Amino acid sequence: MRVLYVCTELFPLLKTGGLADVSAALPAALAMAGCEVRVLLPAFPSISAGVELQGQAIALPATGGPDVARTAHPVPRIVPGRVRATGQAVYLLDAPAQYERPGGPYLDASGHDWPDNAARFALLSWVAAWLGCGGDPHWQPDVVHAHDWHAGLAPVYMQLLAGGGARPASIFTIHNLAYQGVFPRDMLETLGLPESLFTIDGYEYHGHLSFMKAGLQFSDALTTVSPRYAREITTPEQGCGLDGVLRHRSGQLSGILNGVDYSVWNPASDPLLETPYEFNQMAGKAGAKRALQRLLGLALRPEALLFGAVSRLSDQKGFHLVPSVLDDLVAGGGQLVVLGSGDAGIEAALRDAAARHPGQSVLRVGYDEALAHGIMAAADVLLVPSRFEPCGLTQMYALRYGALPLVHGVGGLADTVTDSTPQALKDGTASGFVFHEFSAHGLRQAMDRAFTLHRHPADWARVQRHAMQLRFDWKVAAQAYRTLYEQTAAATPGTAYASSLNGSR
Ligand code: ADP
Ligand code: GLC
Repeated sequence: MRVLYVCTELFPLLKTGGLADVSAALPAALAMAGCEVRVLLPAFPSISAGVELQGQAIALPATGGPDVARTAHPVPRIVPGRVRATGQAVYLLDAPAQYERPGGPYLDASGHDWPDNAARFALLSWVAAWLGCGGDPHWQPDVVHAHDWHAGLAPVYMQLLAGGGARPASIFTIHNLAYQGVFPRDMLETLGLPESLFTIDGYEYHGHLSFMKAGLQFSDALTTVSPRYAREITTPEQGCGLDGVLRHRSGQLSGILNGVDYSVWNPASDPLLETPYEFNQMAGKAGAKRALQRLLGLALRPEALLFGAVSRLSDQKGFHLVPSVLDDLVAGGGQLVVLGSGDAGIEAALRDAAARHPGQSVLRVGYDEALAHGIMAAADVLLVPSRFEPCGLTQMYALRYGALPLVHGVGGLADTVTDSTPQALKDGTASGFVFHEFSAHGLRQAMDRAFTLHRHPADWARVQRHAMQLRFDWKVAAQAYRTLYEQTAAATPGTAYASSLNGSR
């Protein structure tokens, strides 16, 4: 089973969120499950820096697709290579005018979308389709697996290129339905997209072109990153305006829970920790707490219930609820550390709140991989109060580090954290704290329950031990994707895979 995996981020080379962690771990797990995976990425400078180029560059076709594929200077091309650190096979989409810029992959240095994002990501999608339809004569995928709106046009371009003939199966994974890639209708022509598909059953979305909707409408199978989010997005409340499409395609939609890369997130072997620890040898966790309190200028209070958070500070993540519970958190004897960046208003509110409690509360604005590990190790509780959460990785990392997650009961958070109800405490399944009313009141109540449990150290230790022994293995997810690839490729007439099942290859 050959898989072309199309995405925009790859840990540790380029990361703005969980997509990067997934793109690093899932292809490796798929390889262990017997798939042959090549990852197609834009050649952003930090990606190129970590890739050893190998073999001949592949030219793009002279016709079809977005204008940028032919008119950009220099002309874009595809360069095969391998990630130096892991050996993962990749195709880099080398288009310096589109991808070699200061700032982030999606936003410029002042936080605005790059004005040519439609062309930049149409190009990625087009190249995926071209490789899918035989662009590399030496390697023909059975499946093209596209991720998020940036790759949403790949299945359409592939259908246009194949024109009803043989093509790979297309799988589209939604990591976050809230980001949709919506652009003006008058871009259709420069993107090489026909007007005939600009309909309610195609990529038209309220008079605009939607890359996300294209992915949802034209892919052979759809997945998202937790079973619960797969159900939620078919409702008007969580469907971000696409719930009708998703209900229509619910027969093709499934939720496959992300996993954790335990070679990166393991307190027993974490090179970023001074004092490793394990569920049966917890002294190192107390050491990590002391180290973090010292590093961030918090009072050295081993008994304080330390709440941590590592998050983008966008509206999605729910951190606007935190300032109004902070006084109670500190009055209860707790401490709070937040590492994150994003929305200026949320940052300011957290900064003001933290300033009211010097020595007990700290906000660190920025992106810091080492500090993220330090917080997981030091914290007693990890806050993830997201309004919605497709999967969420930090709560799973926290479980492994014995920081009990305190989460809003939505999406992947609900699928991975078991609330410490009296019953769950009794039967040993409790792993954290879940609140359902999305308000400061709901959050405060769950926080109070965390304080109550912490006053019973033996009960706390039992929940912590259980949390640390839970596993969200990529092996399980990879097996589910592999099964889906096989079923979808077998059901897509004309794929090489389907022909091989019929004995004709
Ligand atoms: P999302 O992708 O929506 O941001 P996830 O929980 O899936 O949420 O993934 C977030 C990833 O980004 C995790 O690996 C987390 O540790 C990391 N992360 C988020 N904010 C920061 C930060 N400020 N510094 C370091 N790592 C961060
Ligand atoms: C998105 C989601 C997050 C998920 C991640 C990886 O960024 O917001 O919930 O964990 O993708 O799938």
